Amino acid sequence: MSMTSKDQHNRILRDLRISVTDRCNFRCRYCMPEEIFGKDYSFLPKESVLTEEEIGRIAKIFVSLGAKKLRITGGEPLLRKDLPNIIERLSRLDAEDISLTTNGSLLSRMAVSLRQAGLHRVTVSLDSLEDDMFLQMNGGRSRVQPVLDGIDAAAEAGLQVKVNMVVQKGFNENAVVPMVDYFRQKGHILRMVEYMDVGNSNGWNRQHVVSKQELLDRIGEHFPLQPIAPNYDGEVATRYQFADGIGEVGFISSVTEAFCSSCTRARLSAEGKLYTCLFATKGHDLREWLRSDRSDEQIADYIQAVWTNRKDQYSLERGLASDKNDPNGHKVEMSHIGG
Ligand code: GTP
Ligand code: 5AD
Ligand code: SF4
Ligand code: SF4
Repeated sequence: MSMTSKDQHNRILRDLRISVTDRCNFRCRYCMPEEIFGKDYSFLPKESVLTEEEIGRIAKIFVSLGAKKLRITGGEPLLRKDLPNIIERLSRLDAEDISLTTNGSLLSRMAVSLRQAGLHRVTVSLDSLEDDMFLQMNGGRSRVQPVLDGIDAAAEAGLQVKVNMVVQKGFNENAVVPMVDYFRQKGHILRMVEYMDVGNSNGWNRQHVVSKQELLDRIGEHFPLQPIAPNYDGEVATRYQFADGIGEVGFISSVTEAFCSSCTRARLSAEGKLYTCLFATKGHDLREWLRSDRSDEQIADYIQAVWTNRKDQYSLERGLASDKNDPNGHKVEMSHIGG
């Protein structure tokens, strides 16, 4: 079976983002601030998290429904010991692209086994090349070098590498140009992500967003840029190449230039809830279906029904009437669905 059905805004289901854990060894201030995700925070108990087998099964069902791009996220996915097995299961499916988003801190020792398991690409999050600034942003959990080592190890293992940098006003704007320079020389694509109001914990405020336009201006003073066409329809980042033709950077401008109209992404939380938007307040419990005696066909029908009813376009509406987005609703945390 393959699904061609579209949601209420005519969007197909093409990507599945799978969170494999809600835990992380970092405490980034824009995602899991220490004050909230401290010692007393209750993470999901093991039995609530989908097993390797369950992830393999649900991914297979999504692929049968048309998902072509699979991305593993967290929390921090490398904290999961059976991650190579999970990837191995995904690599047996008929998907075009298997990627992973990670903070990179444990990547240098895992890169080869991930590649061997069938992973194609990694995207490493890194917000600064300076220890002081980086430590401030990740809650004092890691210096820069282990992450840079992880990036090098991934590239050496044959994984395609991208780097994501979340830019927050007053914190790491000064890191933008050095990051652009460093990753251009390394030959990796750096994408700058506008700080988003994901979850309920980061105290988001529009004043802390550095817009794509501001970033373009800042970078343009040092490295002239030219826009280039997307790699595929609905690519999240808009692409720019350096004027000398060597290398490119991307901008993920969910706040100032929403890209909901082409959003083909479904998200599965670590506990097996299906979310049809990063900013959703409600998920659909697939774990219950997986742990019942329902067949793959029945689960596929259920997912298809959820997708057909999908209306989400949070970022487009954020700028309009904010109350339309249910300000009292409790949004899913970033660490439960991994961005
Ligand atoms: P590629 O397949 O390499 O293009 O990856 P990607 O950019 O789709 O995924 P990645 O995990 O690297 O995400 C980059 C940033 O974009 C993260 O901060 C995500 O939270 C954000 N992002 C990804 N998809 C969406 C989306 O559908 N909506 C919004 N608002 N942000 C998204
Ligand atoms: N705004 C923008 N990006 C975020 N990320 C985590 N929290 C936020 C936020 N509030 C990024 C991480 C990672 C990706 C999955 O999402 O840095 O690169
Ligand atoms: Fe962990 Fe990534 Fe969240 Fe930082 S952004 S706390 S590395 S899950
Ligand atoms: Fe998709 Fe929601 Fe992001 Fe819009 S805000 S692009 S609908 S995930």
